[in-house]
Amino acid sequence: MDNAQTAGPVRIGLIVGSTRPGRRGGEVARWAAQVAQEHDAVRRGAATVAVVDLAEQALPLLDEPVPAMFGDYRNAHTLRWSDTVAGFDAFVFVTPEYNHSVPAALKNGIDYLYAEWNGKAAGVLTYGVQGGSRAGEHLRQILAEVRAVVVPTGVALTVFTDFDFSGADPGDPTAPGRIAPAAEREAGLDRMLTEIVDRSRERTSGGPLVGASGPDAAR
Ligand SMILES: Cc1cc2nc3c(=O)[nH]c(=O)nc-3n(C[C@H](O)[C@H](O)[C@H](O)COP(=O)(O)O)c2cc1C
Repeated sequence: MDNAQTAGPVRIGLIVGSTRPGRRGGEVARWAAQVAQEHDAVRRGAATVAVVDLAEQALPLLDEPVPAMFGDYRNAHTLRWSDTVAGFDAFVFVTPEYNHSVPAALKNGIDYLYAEWNGKAAGVLTYGVQGGSRAGEHLRQILAEVRAVVVPTGVALTVFTDFDFSGADPGDPTAPGRIAPAAEREAGLDRMLTEIVDRSRERTSGGPLVGASGPDAAR
């Protein structure tokens, strides 16, 4: 496993945490990728951004005999997922709220690996009927356990205010709406990306990046 962190551009993976047909997650990730492409660090070539879709990984429910922290992977799908995640220096987790937590697919995808998350900066972008903040809080706890370093700024999109349902049948529960976030959401995502790039740079230069035992663990 070539676990990224080089002196080159900070490679940021936008992990799409929902997998269901008709999900809003794809749209949210596309919006996030667009905002990221306009970020100063990306425009300068100091960072790159790529979408990582858990639906495409099609991971079964965790079927590794050895816990991920031992790094003794047996299955081809785990090795593939490990290579994918190891290729990034940092992450933005794009997650909806499902029953006050993260989707099972996202928890499963995180549980598969360990070293591939360690010490890397992570941002939390949630969405849900109420912004997905409870999923965000769970995700912060989960990421602390795999020693990712969650940056302070989070972004929360609310389905009924950050999506546009004009023209949709109000009685249709599958209508995804079009993403139309309030301006401050974009500003928040921009700030989150700045924090991610700064933290990743501190890691490369051996600076004061703190792990799960440091003050960030409590966020
Ligand atoms: C199984 C399930 C549980 C949900 N639970 C919550 C919830 O607890 N709180 C909330 O605000 N929204 C909840 N929602 C609404 C979702 O956050 C919203 O539909 C979001 O678009 C789902 O993400 P997805 O479209 O990418 O699957 C739930 C949706 C689903 C499918």
